[in-house]
Amino acid sequence: MTDPAAVRRVPVARLDEIPEGTMRMVEVDATHILVVHRDGLHALQGICSHEYFELDGGFLTGDAITCALHLSRFDLATGEALDPPATLPLARYPVIVEEGVILLELPVGAIPVNE
Ligand code: FES
Repeated sequence: MTDPAAVRRVPVARLDEIPEGTMRMVEVDATHILVVHRDGLHALQGICSHEYFELDGGFLTGDAITCALHLSRFDLATGEALDPPATLPLARYPVIVEEGVILLELPVGAIPVNE
């Protein structure tokens, strides 16, 4: 049986591929994850928690990502929904950089997503 607390480190991009002020969608086990470089690195679920929208089609506004479909903003640092219609936060995942490579620290099993 898999230890539910077990984590794995998954390389997703080189740091120089996601410069400050940009973002990139990556996929791990068919789960979309948005990696944002804005005052540090953030990794959040890549699909909006309101309806299906790939958030790399949204835009960065201050310390938030704005969903382009219904314009809810989500705090990059907490994932919290700052405006309706979204109410659920975006799931966040720990990010590590080792030797210029961005690694996500993810559960060994299913990757949690709020929907
Ligand atoms: S799909 Fe993102 S706010 Fe509605």
